[in-house]
Amino acid sequence: MLDVSHAIAQPAPASDGAISRHDYRPPAWTVPETRLVFDLDPATTRVTATLSVARNGEHAEPLRLDGAGQEPLAVRVDGVAVNDWRIEGEQLVIPLSGDAHAIETEVEIAPERNTQLMGLYASGGNLCTQCEAEGFRRITYFPDRPDVLSRYAVRLVADKARYPVLLANGDPVDAGDLPDGRHWAEWNDPFPKPSYLFALVAGDLAVNRGSFTTQSGRDVQLGIWVRAADIDKTHHALHALKLSMAWDERVYGREYDLDVFNIVAVDDFNFGAMENKGLNIFNSRYILADPDTATDYDYDAIAAVVAHEYFHNWSGNRITCRDWFQLSLKEGFTVYRDQGFSADQGSAAVKRIEDVRGLRAAQFPEDAGPLAHPVRPDSYLEISNFYTATIYNKGAELIRMMATILGPQGFRAGTDLYFDRFDGTAATCEDFVACMEEAGGVNLGQFRLWYSQAGTPRVAASLSHQAGEGRATLRLAQHVPGTPGQPDKQPMVLPLKLRLFGGETGRPLGPEQLVLLDQPASTIVFDGITERPVLSINRGFSTPVIIESDRSARELAFLSAHDDDPFARYEAMQQLMLDTLVAAAVEGRADHDAVVTAVANTLADADLDPAFVAEAVLLPSESFIGDQLASVDPEAIFRAREDLRGALGRRLSDQWRHAYDQAPAGPYVYTPAAKGLRRLRSVALGYIAASGADDAARLAFRQFETADNMTDRQGALTTLASGQSDEREAALDIFYNRYAGNGLVIDKWFQTQALSSRDDTGRLVEELARHPDFTLANPNRARSLVGAFGANQRAFNAADGSGYRFLADQLIALDRLNPQTAAKLLPPLARWRRFDAGRSGLMRGELERIVATPGLSKDMFEQVSKSLG
Ligand code: ARG
Ligand code: ZN
Repeated sequence: MLDVSHAIAQPAPASDGAISRHDYRPPAWTVPETRLVFDLDPATTRVTATLSVARNGEHAEPLRLDGAGQEPLAVRVDGVAVNDWRIEGEQLVIPLSGDAHAIETEVEIAPERNTQLMGLYASGGNLCTQCEAEGFRRITYFPDRPDVLSRYAVRLVADKARYPVLLANGDPVDAGDLPDGRHWAEWNDPFPKPSYLFALVAGDLAVNRGSFTTQSGRDVQLGIWVRAADIDKTHHALHALKLSMAWDERVYGREYDLDVFNIVAVDDFNFGAMENKGLNIFNSRYILADPDTATDYDYDAIAAVVAHEYFHNWSGNRITCRDWFQLSLKEGFTVYRDQGFSADQGSAAVKRIEDVRGLRAAQFPEDAGPLAHPVRPDSYLEISNFYTATIYNKGAELIRMMATILGPQGFRAGTDLYFDRFDGTAATCEDFVACMEEAGGVNLGQFRLWYSQAGTPRVAASLSHQAGEGRATLRLAQHVPGTPGQPDKQPMVLPLKLRLFGGETGRPLGPEQLVLLDQPASTIVFDGITERPVLSINRGFSTPVIIESDRSARELAFLSAHDDDPFARYEAMQQLMLDTLVAAAVEGRADHDAVVTAVANTLADADLDPAFVAEAVLLPSESFIGDQLASVDPEAIFRAREDLRGALGRRLSDQWRHAYDQAPAGPYVYTPAAKGLRRLRSVALGYIAASGADDAARLAFRQFETADNMTDRQGALTTLASGQSDEREAALDIFYNRYAGNGLVIDKWFQTQALSSRDDTGRLVEELARHPDFTLANPNRARSLVGAFGANQRAFNAADGSGYRFLADQLIALDRLNPQTAAKLLPPLARWRRFDAGRSGLMRGELERIVATPGLSKDMFEQVSKSLG
């Protein structure tokens, strides 16, 4: 039977070039085996690819191989040169008569001219690859889609002096020398994988080796590869890798499956890291650490990213994605897994607070703006634009909600079933949810709306007390706001953990409950409530929604002191601060008493972990305050926040000094306890400076000079950078000179200044963009200045539009080099609808200027046109 209908190679793009999820078709041809030979050279690398291809079902389609930027130098079918191939768009189309053939192509590429950092490129004198999502087609012709799984054998040939180390996926097979000063190495990956997981590295690298014995007794040789000068900065990453391997066995029953696991750190990288099978490639900022150059925050992030990429070996590699609309299948789940790992290394409460703060800083605004999209999107122009906080972090929240609904045993049964059933395949989000349903014995029908509906749900919660009847009544109502292309929403399933506390005694009135709100509105009645109750809701942030409650300042202060759920306690304080700041920014009503008292109580509570206290006493960010308002007045928000910071600083001056004096004893150690004390100290220093105390700059400068670690040094520098003191200039100079040549630390120098709250930050940032160390060619550097500035709400939104113009200029320049990184920095301009007419007009003007730029990338075009739309 000849049935062509479900076997078309590529979905036909819609007229605007958008790819649609509903157009998915299985591949017309599969590629069981792939053999690649690389003759490596920065100027001209020759790639010879031999693909065994097999017709997938009965159809008459030719073979279509994706390419980008190269042309075929030779095409052979079963060893015979052919010339009946054609190029359509960027695809190489080869008519084939049989059901199985060997296809050989040759191309030449120029890694040193690759500024997009996708495909094969040069970084710091070495050669490396990045293929996810569609970089492999820039290396050779291939069906570059995640559902074509192939076994790869790779031969690398390169100059031995220049590239003594040659790495690829899988296990090493053999290596040897060639007469002309060149050498070769062969690697074999026994696990079929999609092309986006391909990787190679050729370079002059040193290795920190370790080993790990898996639960079934397999010995794995671990290696972290960096330039020789950095080798002493790899111990933390290697340790984190071992912890991750043990954790995944213990918590998910997942064992590593190759004889080697290599990680390579490179300086030029578009994002954090990449989970290529057996050969992870990392942005060096997520590998390199020592106390003198990395902060506690960096140490945490390194462990989290090492774990994340390692966990992908199962959630991503053994089971991959059928198509890119399913990206959250691997990313949301893997973020959830790395969050669990990090929570187990220290304070789970603090980790949850940090994760929720991150979600609110990046994902909530995305969901509320023109770039909003569902966790499983329906269409895209450029898939690189969908590596977003929604896919990653909201995606992780969806997994967390399913884990909450199923309970720990049900969830583990669900993941076991998923790993078992889909191992070796390219799966969908639906497959994952179906496993949860089956193993957990629950119906997740309505829950699936979380995958298809964008927007952050809002829940109105109102508790009333009928003292006479000994009853409390909780009224809940949900509303999902419209988002682009989705004006009307259906009610969702919201797993809300809640508990009531007695407003007089502080005692819990009954146990914690899990309520599944699946109706537009619902009423819950609590009996036997004689004491005035206070509502603790969305405990642990059990569902990623915005709670609109009518709790008074008094009730929030009460919860901030008595709630037994640490997240809810933090949240009550945040809400109290937010209510205070919004009232001040909008109505000019500055009543600081409730916040000052609540912060004083938290500081005085000796039972609390200092790391928790540090988070709890921090004020919400300027942009988060802005997100609460229909129209953002950045100056008013800044002033309101500075006023409250000043009041807290002055009125609790003794408490801040006391907290500041609790330094961890002895030299730097990276332990949860020492980390918590350092964090609280730097928060305290910020408040001391905000109080206007005469000695604040001196205190900060002394900390800066005497610190034996980057956490304290950068903490002090951050405080100084926002002030006007002479110490500010001195510290910035000392810092710069001390770390000249260390790119990752010089990034901190740029970033700290771009985040400064000084009045002249905009002008300073423009000067820094002309600094000899500034370059758009390195993504970390571009982000450290341009990205950080976009996050500085007040400086970026200067009323004269200078911030908008600066960002647009930088993005237009960066787009020519590296579209992917440029498009990621656009979102601050996409917020234009949230500002007054003057600002929004200026922002629109810059968006229009960008979109009118000749030769604009698809990446940037999609983001700008959606932002304007
Ligand atoms: N899969 C990588 C990770 O672990 C990120 C790849 C990002 N790719 C991209 N085109 N933005 O999260
Ligand atoms: Zn990932």
